[in-house]
Amino acid sequence: MKAVTTVQLLIAAAFITAALAADPSPPQYTNHTVGGAAGWFFFDKKNTSATNYSDWASKESFNLGDFLIFNTANRMAVVQTFNETTYRLCSAGEDDGNDTYVYSGVGDSGGGFDDPVTVTVRLTVEGKSYYFSDAGEGMQCFKGLRFSIVVGHGRGLPSDLNRPPPPPYREASPTPMEAAAADATTSQGERFYNGGEGRRGAGVGFFVILVGWFLVC
Ligand SMILES: *[C@@H]1O[C@H](CO)[C@@H](O)[C@H](O)[C@H]1NC(C)=O
Ligand SMILES: *[C@@H]1O[C@H](CO)[C@@H](O)[C@H](O)[C@H]1NC(C)=O
Ligand SMILES: *[C@@H]1O[C@H](CO)[C@@H](O)[C@H](O)[C@H]1NC(C)=O
Ligand SMILES: *[C@@H]1O[C@H](CO)[C@@H](O)[C@H](O)[C@H]1NC(C)=O
Ligand SMILES: *[C@@H]1O[C@H](CO)[C@@H](O)[C@H](O)[C@H]1NC(C)=O
Repeated sequence: MKAVTTVQLLIAAAFITAALAADPSPPQYTNHTVGGAAGWFFFDKKNTSATNYSDWASKESFNLGDFLIFNTANRMAVVQTFNETTYRLCSAGEDDGNDTYVYSGVGDSGGGFDDPVTVTVRLTVEGKSYYFSDAGEGMQCFKGLRFSIVVGHGRGLPSDLNRPPPPPYREASPTPMEAAAADATTSQGERFYNGGEGRRGAGVGFFVILVGWFLVC
């Protein structure tokens, strides 16, 4: 067997560099901290939301796979819906469809009413979605504790959402409607999986074979 020459090593190194350069960087997903430093709150005494959430959302750019991070408290409510009527009514209760999800730490995590809670919502569906609090008979929502977003494709969903793990949040004693909604998320997550990881892996494999061929010759 021939000794590997310096030239061959240099060529091999050049191919590895080219392979890495051609390989797009892995998907970057953004964590959007809802409301920024203000978190997800309503000031009962002032009868206002802690910040202007529509204004906050209008300055962010949302894509598949990103996270909404609601820094909030046990007593607060987070509702996600794809039903615009539900959003306008500020009420999850009227919605007999399957596209409204109630996330909450709300009262059932064993802690006190004011204990901090982080609700994490992964964005798995492209297009418009709506977020609001249905606490106080919808008054918090009517007074500004709500926003809508448009989720773009970005780099698509990560491969781990092909078989989504159980959601990281705890649902407040899910009703049959909410259980059906959770199933809906799962199937939509699968539908939007773009298989990007697989294609990238194949590209790197091809370069590894090329490099191997150079070393043998
Ligand atoms: C974004 O949030 C997710 C879910 O809480 C977490 O796993 C991830 O580490 C966070 N990423 C960054 C960059 O903070
Ligand atoms: C908050 O304001 C709304 C009208 O904007 C009013 O109907 C409601 O009674 C107020 N709530 C309190 C607690 O002041
Ligand atoms: C919140 O911000 C939006 C968009 O920036 C603006 O149209 C709206 O008037 C603001 N609402 C309040 C209550 O200031
Ligand atoms: C949307 O919500 C409204 C009221 O909240 C409800 O009447 C309607 O059936 C819902 N639509 C779908 C498609 O679920
Ligand atoms: C949700 O409702 C839509 C139409 O209202 C239906 O096509 C879809 O199959 C339902 N999904 C689930 C999981 O029930």
